[in-house]
Amino acid sequence: MDSTEKKHNAAKASLEFIEPGMVVGIGTGSTVDELIKLLPSIKDRIDKVVSSSNASTELLEEQGFEVARLNEVGPIDIYIDGADEATKRLHLIKGGGGALTREKVLAGASRRFVCIIDESKLVGMLGTFPLPVEVLPMAQSFVARQFTKLRAQPVWREGFVTDNGNHILDVHELNISNPIEMETRLNQIPGILTVGIFANRSADILLIADDNGVREMRV
Ligand code: 5RP
Repeated sequence: MDSTEKKHNAAKASLEFIEPGMVVGIGTGSTVDELIKLLPSIKDRIDKVVSSSNASTELLEEQGFEVARLNEVGPIDIYIDGADEATKRLHLIKGGGGALTREKVLAGASRRFVCIIDESKLVGMLGTFPLPVEVLPMAQSFVARQFTKLRAQPVWREGFVTDNGNHILDVHELNISNPIEMETRLNQIPGILTVGIFANRSADILLIADDNGVREMRV
């Protein structure tokens, strides 16, 4: 089974968590693209849909959905999104697609966060995937120096501007042995909008697709 099929299967398995009348938050990325393609089949169950990126909004509109602004809806009943890495504690690295800030806002605003991945994303410890960090452009040199002090290697994502008009730093070789502590610590650095560690607000349910089907993990 190829990785697109696995992503499709994980996305399909998440549909059963969407109950009638729910406000649904939608993440970003190729796994979520599979989900968006499936959403018309359960449109009658969805009250409102909120999106984490311009790319997902565009796809949702193509599928016939009117996308609400987060400020127009109350809490999100369910947020469904992919990840670049996930642990069995349901801590995540996200932001490979650069949408991490809006993704973190939607995850924070949601009652339940369902993360959909294929098995290649499941890791023992976060940090092999370079950590995406959204940074205010005027602070980029200062922020890069703070990562160098942590003995990590910050690399600017060339030619990339986020939906919020900021830049992304991909941080290699950062020691993330304690994801909650590292997320909290990095959040204190002025100029950082968001770090791609999702540990203080981790996923509630992880759906992992492999050759044998989709299994579920909860903490
Ligand atoms: C985008 C993200 C994505 O969830 C993450 O990059 C996984 O993407 P994909 O499903 O394409 O592997 O955080 O900012």
